[in-house]
Amino acid sequence: MAKIGVGLAGWGTVGCGVIEVLRKNGAVIESRLGVPVELLRVADLDLERQRPVSVPREMLTTNVEDILRDPDIHIVVELIGGLKAAKTVIRSALEHGKHVVTANKALLAHDGNELFGLAREKGLCLCFEASVGGGIPLIKSLREGLASNRITTIFGILNGTANYILTRMTDNGLSFADALKEAQALGYAEADPTLDVEGIDTAHKLSIAGAIAFGTPIQFDRVYIEGISGIDPLDIQYAEEFGYRLKLLAIARNTDGRLEMRVHPTLIAKDHVLASVNGAYNAVHIEGNAVGDVMLYGMGAGMMPTGSAVVSDIIDVARDILGGTPERIPPLAFLPERVQKIDIKPISDVYTSYYIRLSALDEPGVLSKVSGALGENGISIAAVIQKGRHADSVPIVMITHEALESSVRKALDEIDKLHAVLGPATLIRIENH
Ligand code: HSE
Repeated sequence: MAKIGVGLAGWGTVGCGVIEVLRKNGAVIESRLGVPVELLRVADLDLERQRPVSVPREMLTTNVEDILRDPDIHIVVELIGGLKAAKTVIRSALEHGKHVVTANKALLAHDGNELFGLAREKGLCLCFEASVGGGIPLIKSLREGLASNRITTIFGILNGTANYILTRMTDNGLSFADALKEAQALGYAEADPTLDVEGIDTAHKLSIAGAIAFGTPIQFDRVYIEGISGIDPLDIQYAEEFGYRLKLLAIARNTDGRLEMRVHPTLIAKDHVLASVNGAYNAVHIEGNAVGDVMLYGMGAGMMPTGSAVVSDIIDVARDILGGTPERIPPLAFLPERVQKIDIKPISDVYTSYYIRLSALDEPGVLSKVSGALGENGISIAAVIQKGRHADSVPIVMITHEALESSVRKALDEIDKLHAVLGPATLIRIENH
């Protein structure tokens, strides 16, 4: 084969990145691959909007069928985003015998198992490096670089928008609302920021990475999700006094044959590497039973970093086309018949330590009643601080040793009923690994 033909569906930010990476690095890519990768068509419904990267008019089309029916196109890159139209394009591309590269984490989180099945049926590649962690080669690391390991844990920061907001709240004392407004003004956060700030985008990514790590189908609807919109900067300050920083973490862990898959605001020790991952950066900590700890760090979004990941997939697919081995590595890197549904624990079964903040009347015996309720439920306090009075109330802030979440919830129900406790407690999980 003299060259690899590529068709691009979706000329947005990432699409521009793909075009630019192919242009800028065409020579080095050809040196690695042996043949050139040629972008032949670009489809988008809106061809008039100004973009940072231009495309010759004759390559443009508003009809994606022009890509699907072009016999010189071997690889279709889906960068439309969203669910319905993107799924139709991917399915049609596979039906037309084209390999597919996508960055669409939401679609894979919802329909990845079905689409992987179709790609397999057709003997074609469906690659998705850019769907998780932007430019960080996380998927390749899990599928290939760490294939000799049993992965025990993945945890990390997988959403740059939420990380930017938390960084500004931590370093500059901004409220969530002000930090969000700033992130929107800088173009990090969307006009509707729900997916990013409510942890849903992070959960999409975790469900994909976790499936590869543990050889289980993607189970997005079983991921526990809590976002950062309810975070009070006060808790960030108090947690700092205990030596912690607050991050929106994605955590996937294989414990006693069941999985934890959870996304929530999490406290990590200030000296943990993840604590210093700030702004729009992403980072992932992986634990393998042979390799030990691995950290991956880089830009989790943006035109060129995400373009880099998409083009690395194009190169991988091209190598498989040239070598005649399109099913060399299955999508989840486990043989499809060995992918097994592993039970995901409800959050009530998670065993971890906690930060608890209460507001209480400043009267004798309150602390002993609170610690009594915790003790009766098997929860041991590791540290406690009582802050100065605010009018009639005092904040009581505690760190617990590891405990079962259902026990902590039961204790807090009892504590909330104490007449001296004013309002529900704030609970934030701690990651000690
Ligand atoms: N919206 C995502 C983020 C980038 O803020 O990290 C794309 O996955």
